[in-house]
Amino acid sequence: MEERIIAPGELAGEERIDLSLRPKSLAEFIGQPMVKENLGIFLEAAKKRGQPCEHVLFYGPPGLGKTTLAHVIANEMGAHVKVTSGPALERVGDLAAILTNLEEGDILFVDEIHRMNRNIEEVLYPAMEDYALDLVIGKGPAARTLRLDLKHFTLIGATTRLSLLSGPLRDRFGSIFHLEFYGPDEMTAIVERSAGLLGINIDKATANSVATRSRRTPRISNRLLRRVRDFAEVRNEGVFDETAVTGALKALNIDDRGLDDTDRRALKLLIEKFNGGPAGLSTLAAAMAEETDTLEDVLEPFLLQEGFIARTPRGRVATELAYKHLGYPLPENLQLL
Ligand SMILES: Nc1ncnc2c1ncn2[C@@H]1O[C@H](COP(=O)(O)OP(=O)(O)OP(=O)(O)O)[C@@H](O)[C@H]1O
Ligand SMILES: [Mg+2]
Repeated sequence: MEERIIAPGELAGEERIDLSLRPKSLAEFIGQPMVKENLGIFLEAAKKRGQPCEHVLFYGPPGLGKTTLAHVIANEMGAHVKVTSGPALERVGDLAAILTNLEEGDILFVDEIHRMNRNIEEVLYPAMEDYALDLVIGKGPAARTLRLDLKHFTLIGATTRLSLLSGPLRDRFGSIFHLEFYGPDEMTAIVERSAGLLGINIDKATANSVATRSRRTPRISNRLLRRVRDFAEVRNEGVFDETAVTGALKALNIDDRGLDDTDRRALKLLIEKFNGGPAGLSTLAAAMAEETDTLEDVLEPFLLQEGFIARTPRGRVATELAYKHLGYPLPENLQLL
């Protein structure tokens, strides 16, 4: 798939900007009230006890703040954080080396933790539970295990796919937090905050208009802000207003609901080729020449959340909203969803 401007995942070179816009404390973090409240209590309690906090897992669609929250925890606890990811850990030795180097209270952040190999995952079980590392030395009948003590660290895992995490791993987290898509007011507040940090002058109505096109995802609103700023500088005499927003997004082919060509292509296929569905996700993915994973992780959550498609036991169906949004006449047999 070519690089989508509204891809919720990180695009090349975006990390640095993401970093500068990242809230550093819980107070600065906008939205996710449930997570914020519970995490606040969780951290406060750990601080009171003078102990490192329990292991934490964040899950939810890309770009909603999992990595951000991991760093917020580190900040709030005054802890060092070591960052790695499931796919980066290729051999058991990679993880063992990281674990033995952790100091008391350090945080180990494992991104995409569902993509860790099972044999590496097994090393984590005693590490998480007993702060111990079991190493097998030698081979065959002479092999023996050696148990090494580890410092009390906190593991923070992040995943977009909770269902792919094994039960034993999931059970070893003290808390599991689900990040949800942001509401309209939260998105507007995030746009206003990021604009301030980027030195962009923006009024509330314009912030709101960027927010509504950002798929309820802060990473996307931050990206759109920069694109609209470019457009404003080149085509709108540097003024960041509604004209700049409309112009920039039109050039990017993003519509007023935040859908891009790929989303519309998916809905069109569902409507035209599958008579509105139901169609299985993998069938739809094949028809679009996309990966099923991409559809499931990236496209579907937003389209579902916004009510453009619905899930039925027999597959995905296009809703009345999808027909209306794309300008198709409503079929007579459309189930009201
Ligand atoms: N609540 C928030 N308030 C303000 N900005 C936010 C918030 N959540 C996320 N962001 C911004 O969105 C960007 C993306 O967030 P982050 O990298 O934490 O997402 P993620 O959930 O880890 O995504 P992925 O699954 O792709 O790793 C951050 O750089 C940050 O600037
Ligand atoms: Mg992340």
